[in-house]
Amino acid sequence: MDFSDRAATWDDDPEKLRNAAQVAEAVRRNLDLTGAEDVLEFGGGTGLLSRALADDVGTVVITDAAPGMVAVAQQRIDDLGRGDRMRAALFDPTSDDTDPGQFDVIWSMLALHHVPDIDVALARLRGLLKPGGRLALADLDEDPGGSFHQAHGDFHGHDGFDRHTLGHALQRIGFQDIAFDTATTVDKEVDGARRSYPVFLVTARVPR
Ligand SMILES: C[S@@+](CC[C@H](N)C(=O)[O-])C[C@H]1O[C@@H](n2cnc3c(N)ncnc32)[C@H](O)[C@@H]1O
Repeated sequence: MDFSDRAATWDDDPEKLRNAAQVAEAVRRNLDLTGAEDVLEFGGGTGLLSRALADDVGTVVITDAAPGMVAVAQQRIDDLGRGDRMRAALFDPTSDDTDPGQFDVIWSMLALHHVPDIDVALARLRGLLKPGGRLALADLDEDPGGSFHQAHGDFHGHDGFDRHTLGHALQRIGFQDIAFDTATTVDKEVDGARRSYPVFLVTARVPR
């Protein structure tokens, strides 16, 4: 799926704003943020989550693989006058893109399920965390029928994640203190009926 074409109108959907606010609340609940953290957002799109949390941390780099999303994210940062503490950049952790830096926290919302090889992405993200750095990923719980993405014929990602399986993957990659919370639900119309898809927040830490 190429998200660039959807970037200009992405923030017009009130459901996306509601989801970002609730995931931000879950991040606050689960990470003891001091206000000084250097943060990377992975698959950040227009930066809804990072903008919701901008006052809780020090600096934020919003990254995404879609150039259109990065352009809109940077425009939103400029419009807010936050260019001193925030920037947007192209970055795909499964590519040979240059590392965007070293971070205290990496957060993300609804991006990991779009990445076919999550082990490669998570290992790369782990390498971008400083000792003791923390990961906070929000994504869809397992959707066995795949109804969430059924309207997208070009979707080649994951139909959500089983929490245990994802927890084990994080452990294998070297994360510790792995914990799950329920952050929000994404509500959408599928086959003429309104359905709610739960979204977890998994937090984890790299050793000091
Ligand atoms: C469903 S959107 C979510 C965007 C944003 N996090 C939000 O919740 O509004 C998924 C995003 O992940 C990005 N993405 C997909 N695969 C990626 C990859 N391998 N590396 C970086 N970003 C990726 C897409 O370009 C898209 O912006």
